Amino acid sequence: AIQYPCRHYTTDKERCGTSKQVAVVGAGAVGSTIALLTMMKNVASEILLVDQNGEFALGQTWDLADANIVNSTKVRQGTYKEAGQSEVVVITAGAKQQPGESRQQLIDRNYHILKEIIGGMQPIRKDAVIMLVTNPVDTLTLIAQNLSGLPRSQVFGSGTFLDTSRLTVYLSDLFDISASCIHAYVLGEHGDSQFIAWNAASIGGRPLLSFPEVQKLDKEKVRLSIANKAMDIIQHKGSTYYGIGACASSICESVLRNSMDIRPLSVYVKEVGTVISLPAKVGANGIEATLPIPLGPEEHRQFMESVKKLREIGERYEN
Ligand code: NAI
Ligand code: 2OP
Repeated sequence: AIQYPCRHYTTDKERCGTSKQVAVVGAGAVGSTIALLTMMKNVASEILLVDQNGEFALGQTWDLADANIVNSTKVRQGTYKEAGQSEVVVITAGAKQQPGESRQQLIDRNYHILKEIIGGMQPIRKDAVIMLVTNPVDTLTLIAQNLSGLPRSQVFGSGTFLDTSRLTVYLSDLFDISASCIHAYVLGEHGDSQFIAWNAASIGGRPLLSFPEVQKLDKEKVRLSIANKAMDIIQHKGSTYYGIGACASSICESVLRNSMDIRPLSVYVKEVGTVISLPAKVGANGIEATLPIPLGPEEHRQFMESVKKLREIGERYEN
């Protein structure tokens, strides 16, 4: 007889489910937006906000608690130690870019902050899943993997998920098709050297490169407009937080529901010896697998350029 697949995503109560705690370290614009959107998803029992500015974090928890009208997620202030005992930890603490500043220029400031946070979280529970959001996210993910003592698969970064969202929103506008139905990734560095994986992109099962609208596009111009969108927003309003809030809270949901979504995230890629964004399967254990993607020759060159850049920066912080 035929065996039909039947998966129960939330039945593995040991590893996932709504009784879990999420700690958000860094209660600023990004951290509080992730906390709010994760609360709205009803996937965690409690959210802890941890920030070096205790008064500010307390105010943020009071404000967030007022959003507790349609969900059952509690929110309270927490410590680094408590964060280390949470099932999911999201790290957003640190400096952000000023207009004209690159993400990589934040590395020295945010390296020291990350070291203090990971040190304060020790001993970290063995099955914790840690997601880095603070920039430069790829390099800080590599550093957190080295400092945390956890398997690399349990420590990853939000990577080019946000850039991918920017791309699908752009293509959605071009084709007048829902962004959720467009399968296209931005990969590589969450930064200037990122690239679009056109070769593997599709809409409704049809390769994206076969659409005349896409053939006509100046691909480098599109790449630059996606890569520069963060800076355009920063120049207008000082920082970005709604886009990353949606991406990072959806990753929390993937982990807590063990849903095995495929997302472009900063993961350690053994073959190239660094952390970089590739499509990854996300579940209760963090990164369950990294998926190979067929890149075109120019895309492969761009990927290796991102690898070279990230490897050089990463080596400076190898401990
Ligand atoms: P923000 O200035 O609003 O908040 C940062 C918070 O970190 C502040 O509340 C500050 O008190 C806290 N903090 C600083 N040092 C700390 C420490 N040692 N322990 C605990 N908390 C500490 O900044 P915002 O806008 O929330 O951005 C945070 C980070 O997220 C930046 O690095 C930014 O570049 C990054 N970001 C990353 C994105 C991505 O796609 N990966 C997207 C948007 C922002
Ligand atoms: C973003 O891409 C600044 O990394 C942040 O919005």
